[in-house]
Amino acid sequence: MPEAQPMIESAAAFRGRDLLTLANVSPRAVLELFATAAASKADITPYRRVLDGKSFALLFEKPSLRTKMSFEVGIAKLGGHPIFMDHAAARLGARESVRDYAKNLERWVDCIVARVYLQSALDELADSARCPVINALSDRYHPCQALADLFTLFEQAGHDHARLREMRLAYVGDGNNVCHSLMHAATLLGVHTTVITPKGYAPASDVTRECEAFAKAAGSSLLVTTDPAAIERHHAVYTDVWVSMGQPGGVDEVTRRRKIFSKYQVSADLMARASSGLPSPSLFMHCLPAQRGLEVTDDVIDSPHSIVYDQAENRMHAQNALLIHTFAR
Ligand code: CP
Ligand code: NVA
Repeated sequence: MPEAQPMIESAAAFRGRDLLTLANVSPRAVLELFATAAASKADITPYRRVLDGKSFALLFEKPSLRTKMSFEVGIAKLGGHPIFMDHAAARLGARESVRDYAKNLERWVDCIVARVYLQSALDELADSARCPVINALSDRYHPCQALADLFTLFEQAGHDHARLREMRLAYVGDGNNVCHSLMHAATLLGVHTTVITPKGYAPASDVTRECEAFAKAAGSSLLVTTDPAAIERHHAVYTDVWVSMGQPGGVDEVTRRRKIFSKYQVSADLMARASSGLPSPSLFMHCLPAQRGLEVTDDVIDSPHSIVYDQAENRMHAQNALLIHTFAR
């Protein structure tokens, strides 16, 4: 299982490895990845052939705009060959076992990028396949998103880790896959993180425990609370949809959550409270797609302090950096 996998201590250690979660990635590895992301974002030319002759299966059980496009375009820019496999109609394991599926795919491709319903299916894919497997979102984690998000904040901090560490990040909403990976990435890097969710929607307790340990090791802190008043004095406020793809419950659950989460909407008022006591307005972040008018209001997502499209752009640069190190010769 991913938590038991050996640590990725440096960017060089990504070579040939899976990326299933950020729980086994060191702060040094993430910062070295950011250096490559910054370099390849500034000039892709030296990296144009790093994936020469490599083929990538992009296997998606769920819809996607950003992840699909950023991997397809990024792999092509690095000289590789992406092959999109739409698995919306047939879940992994439905037609043949996940193991057989992996043992076939590994004969043709050099890497599997997979968006799945169940992290357990992804773990089985990774256990079975000889080639690296990259998590493009599961019910538990969205590590590529979190790498891009922290890279976006790193840019805001002038590519300076000490300045990044001075930032305080708040996540408001459902303690979901995006929240889990964001908590991993932020606490690893020593960014103080506050997670504010309604009662019953907190992040998984094992993830919280891991992140408390990361924060302690980095000399920072993590607060998980149900109190929206905890939003004060945060440089960045992040939210995500209240109902994620594949979450059970149907229409009734959607209606129920709208009521429960209404106090956790990121509005202009909440952003003003986040900024209180700070020298400049807080940044707004969202992985997208957004349900405008629910978890965030239009005036917030469209404000000059919203960096959501930078996050989307950086999906590609962060993933390119990961692929550059995964396939370093
Ligand atoms: N943020 C994100 O993963 O977007 P997609 O679902 O469009 O890939
Ligand atoms: N939490 C959302 C993120 C989408 C990118 C979901 O899983 O649907």
